[in-house]
Amino acid sequence: MRLFKTVAGLRCELARVRQQGDTVGFVPTMGALHAGHDCLIERAIAETDCTVVSIFVNPLQFEPGSDFERYPRDLVADCCHCEHLGARIIFAPEAGELYGNNADGFGCEAGGATRNPTRVLPPPEMLRVLCAPYRPGHFEGVADAVIRLLNIVQPDTAYFGEKDAQQLAIVRLLASDLKVPVDIRSVETVREPSGLACSSRNRYLTSGQRAAAAAIAYSLNKACHAFGAGERNSNVLASLVKRELATVPELRVEYVELVHPQTLAPLAEIADRGLLATAVYLGDTRLIDNVLLRQR
Ligand code: PAJ
Repeated sequence: MRLFKTVAGLRCELARVRQQGDTVGFVPTMGALHAGHDCLIERAIAETDCTVVSIFVNPLQFEPGSDFERYPRDLVADCCHCEHLGARIIFAPEAGELYGNNADGFGCEAGGATRNPTRVLPPPEMLRVLCAPYRPGHFEGVADAVIRLLNIVQPDTAYFGEKDAQQLAIVRLLASDLKVPVDIRSVETVREPSGLACSSRNRYLTSGQRAAAAAIAYSLNKACHAFGAGERNSNVLASLVKRELATVPELRVEYVELVHPQTLAPLAEIADRGLLATAVYLGDTRLIDNVLLRQR
């Protein structure tokens, strides 16, 4: 396995990979790898010849005052882990390598003057629902990082988790609208035995909070059963989840919403499929989860 910190170094290696006729699979991450990431990396390894994992804690997707500083970072452990799984390349750039070359990594040098970098804006409708109103700037930051990474790696396939369903929908549209020649593939949410979705942020939870957090998946599962029994109404399904979550005093619910999984348009009733998603706080830790409700 090889580690690259510069675009030039990575491109050189990828040119060699492509010359051999190998296909490239790409898994963008922010590190602090867990079983959820493993599943994406293993899919890429199974489906392509050369798996590239990026490890980049993207400052642009953290709102001011959020957990950017305390986000867990351990490049050495993550590299060892990727090597063990069978990834061939790690790309771990500094912010300046992606966004520009001046001291803080934001903005580009243009003839001695600093200018702002080109930004990518996801469709505004996709920023009116779910996490976006509560995390201003987050998905703009995600879109910026992902489009840069896709342009740098130019993979045949790129893998994203269904746990971050809004991110997945935005990335799919971004790649399609900007004609990026990549096949975006989604991977089902990996869960702990309690049902809690694996997340880098789970390590912030106390054991008590961890037990309480199991209610998130449980409540979504309850809505899933109601859907299976014929319930299609958004308010009824969302209320069911909210009622269940309200039984756990440690949880503070930010939202429970039902949207179309591709367009993210709010749904009053489910026609063929709906994405029921929630964000919940346990102390200072924000957790998200969702379930895809669809007719079998
Ligand atoms: P990060 O949170 O590290 O997640 C990297 C990828 O792993 C994402 O596609 C995410 O959806 C997926 N993932 C996380 N937990 C998962 C789980 N429990 N089951 C399945 N997949 C899971 O998402 C990001 O980083 C960043 O926003 C990024 C796309 C790298 C852009 O900066």
